[in-house]
Amino acid sequence: PSSLSQYEPEYHFVPPFGWMNDPNGMVYQNGTYHLFYQYYPDSTVWGPMHWGHATSADLLSWKDEGIALYPDSLGYIFSGSAVLDESNSSGFGTESNPPLVAIFTYHDMEKEKAGELEYQSQGIAYSLDNGKTWTKYEGNPVLPNQGIKDFRDPKVSRIQDSAGNWKWLMTLAVLDRIQFFESSDLKSWTLLSEFGQSLGAHGGVWECPDLIPMKTPSGEEKYVLLVSINPGGPQQGSATQYFIGDFKNGEFIPDDELIRWLDYGPDNYAGVTWSNVPSERKDPLFIGWMSNWLYAQVVPTEKWRSSMTIPRELNLFQVEDKLLVQSQPAKELESLRKKSYSISSSESALPSVATEITAEIENTESFSLTLSNELGEKVIINQEMGLINIDRSNSGKVNFHPDFAKTFSAPMSWKAESIRVFIDAHSIELFINNGEIAMTTLVFPNSPWKSVESIQGLENVKIYDLKK
Ligand code: FRU
Repeated sequence: PSSLSQYEPEYHFVPPFGWMNDPNGMVYQNGTYHLFYQYYPDSTVWGPMHWGHATSADLLSWKDEGIALYPDSLGYIFSGSAVLDESNSSGFGTESNPPLVAIFTYHDMEKEKAGELEYQSQGIAYSLDNGKTWTKYEGNPVLPNQGIKDFRDPKVSRIQDSAGNWKWLMTLAVLDRIQFFESSDLKSWTLLSEFGQSLGAHGGVWECPDLIPMKTPSGEEKYVLLVSINPGGPQQGSATQYFIGDFKNGEFIPDDELIRWLDYGPDNYAGVTWSNVPSERKDPLFIGWMSNWLYAQVVPTEKWRSSMTIPRELNLFQVEDKLLVQSQPAKELESLRKKSYSISSSESALPSVATEITAEIENTESFSLTLSNELGEKVIINQEMGLINIDRSNSGKVNFHPDFAKTFSAPMSWKAESIRVFIDAHSIELFINNGEIAMTTLVFPNSPWKSVESIQGLENVKIYDLKK
């Protein structure tokens, strides 16, 4: 049997052991990026959910901070967000020591088992020591269920109301729509509006939303609404769609009816953005769970299950008359580049398990490259007839689920000019035009990728060793 620690990533976040799904509560404070996550430490499959916690100064090296939130009598701790309550609006801290406040979903298993509908509600907890320890609010739940069972994943941000006052805004996934709630103290919430029941993709339940202000290339303010959906993604199973529009008078008004997908690979789900990022960061900072509910619980790792994507910076770009979201690798990723190798032939060795390949695409409307190992396992990445493809059907361990061994395609109607591929022990993240098309794909080769071969239609190919 092969050693399963072979899939331990070099620069992606994984929990020390146990099951992980969604990223939660991402917030920045005093030089520290906090990452919480859906965690079940006692098994490598989903179970009673906790919030695990890790911190980082650079988004690449993570320190395990143990468990932040444990299930309690109100239920498991499902996904949610965290904010720095700078003005101490909640009263949990002081103005000189403002609290971090986590807003999460309680999932009451007892109620669910008893056949009751109202088993999801929102709770809050606070920390006065930079996220080290957390106290749950004694008035929980702060937002009880209102009769629809799927009622979860609160993402809280700050927004100005029509009178110009700063308020807290909660963006919540409610079965097949988004509901927006407003609060001035994070404890009492009022429904403002709902969106989406008759728009967007509806092949599954809506989850993990995020409402993000962004600027268009011409400087106009827009709002991007991320909505994860499971199942019903473009590659089957789970995926993240988004809407672009305005947020005015407590309502989200979409620009159009187009269905847009954030990532055309099968393995980027439930991603949202960091709160309170430093002002020199111009673009929203995103991370996703690098898996798919279709097969997440049976992927061939043993100690832990699942990692996060690399952190990405989101921004708007325009194609013809359409606005779309670009997902660029966060600039921190460049600091991982050790040695670089320029290659001129159509074949080259990969220096380690953790590499980045960059290249320009020649003016041909098609290109190709293949990652391979000495066992004949391979992943083919190419462009053909307007599609960007990634084929993992012969990528090693694929038989653990019938939907894993496949080719995934992204439609690209505009010109592909450059390619960046991030390779780590069990993943490939492909960025065309620095993220105008992003495709995130898990792979479990029986031996690490050793070479890149059959390179066609690419020039100025560089390989970087990213092994720490
Ligand atoms: C998304 C999700 C969320 C939920 C959490 C439970 O992957 O289903 O909607 O809060 O996972 O772990």
